Amino acid sequence: MMRILVTGKNGQVDTALQIEGERLGLEIVRIGRPDVDLSKPETIETAVREIRPEVIISSAAYTAVDKAESEPELAQAVNGDAPGVLARLAAELDIPILHLSTDCVFSGDKDEPYTELDTPAPISVYGRTKLSGEEQVRAATDNHVILRISWVYSSLGSNFVKMMLHLSETRGEVTVVADQLGCPTYAPEAARAVLAIAQQVVIDPDPTIRGTFHLAGEGEATRADFAKAIFKGAGARGHKPVHVNPIATADYPTAAKRPLNARLNSDKLDEVFGLRLEPWQDSLDVCLDELIITGR
Ligand SMILES: NC(=O)c1ccc[n+]([C@@H]2O[C@H](COP(=O)([O-])OP(=O)(O)OC[C@H]3O[C@@H](n4cnc5c(N)ncnc54)[C@H](OP(=O)(O)O)[C@@H]3O)[C@@H](O)[C@H]2O)c1
Repeated sequence: MMRILVTGKNGQVDTALQIEGERLGLEIVRIGRPDVDLSKPETIETAVREIRPEVIISSAAYTAVDKAESEPELAQAVNGDAPGVLARLAAELDIPILHLSTDCVFSGDKDEPYTELDTPAPISVYGRTKLSGEEQVRAATDNHVILRISWVYSSLGSNFVKMMLHLSETRGEVTVVADQLGCPTYAPEAARAVLAIAQQVVIDPDPTIRGTFHLAGEGEATRADFAKAIFKGAGARGHKPVHVNPIATADYPTAAKRPLNARLNSDKLDEVFGLRLEPWQDSLDVCLDELIITGR
């Protein structure tokens, strides 16, 4: 049974990795607080040496994008330096590392979805620290796969879908930004793709299946489109209607700037690994069934 170390114990993606990994008969060992604190490198080292994994998946991150603006050192330690520590340990143990990154490494100024050839230019502390994590992984080992994902949601954890459903309990209308474009990505689907890649790189040393890839739900949406689809889907499952008032990002100030264009082009992932996620509307249906029909 392949032993895979995953960082994070309570997150959307690490939980999905655990559930999907067990379905595939993989041994998933998650590390996280309180035992392992990514801002304390010695706790990471002890855990990795004890677990002796065949591959590491670096999923955990300081994901509070606005709060990161006032805690840049902690965000850097968790998002920038900890992946470097993990990657150096992977190199020492001669195992591959998969590292999850984000659309927030880009400025959002491009008119098209971002490809892996575009130059990162982050506009927030979160984006800068995640870019530092990518750079530290690349510097530590060639035996890496960096996977940038975007707009993650699932029936577990906190995310945009659950926030919208929560708001709909008390409101008949919500205000949502209509000028941020992205690719909603369903965590269980992303986790299945990540695990497929992990299994492949363990057995195949081919350098063409290493490097940086984009992994996002198929299609694109504005935040307002996404909210409308959530309320439409919830309505079809018996929830009362909710109206979406579109506004501009400029009229909705937040501590951290978000890229207006967060779209990721995931063609390279398909070309190299034969993996493509489902159209986001189909995945949203699966998630809404889980949240509303089966009540997970
Ligand atoms: N969510 C998105 O929309 C999105 C978009 C693009 C990329 N990503 C990337 O995808 C990855 C997974 O994101 P996610 O949505 O699963 O994030 P999440 O739900 O916010 O989970 C983050 C995980 O990191 C852990 N963590 C945070 N600080 C830690 C520390 N100091 N020590 C140990 N564990 C710590 C958290 O544990 P605690 O419960 O202890 O805090 C939690 O398990 C991240 O690398 C993120 O940057 C996410």
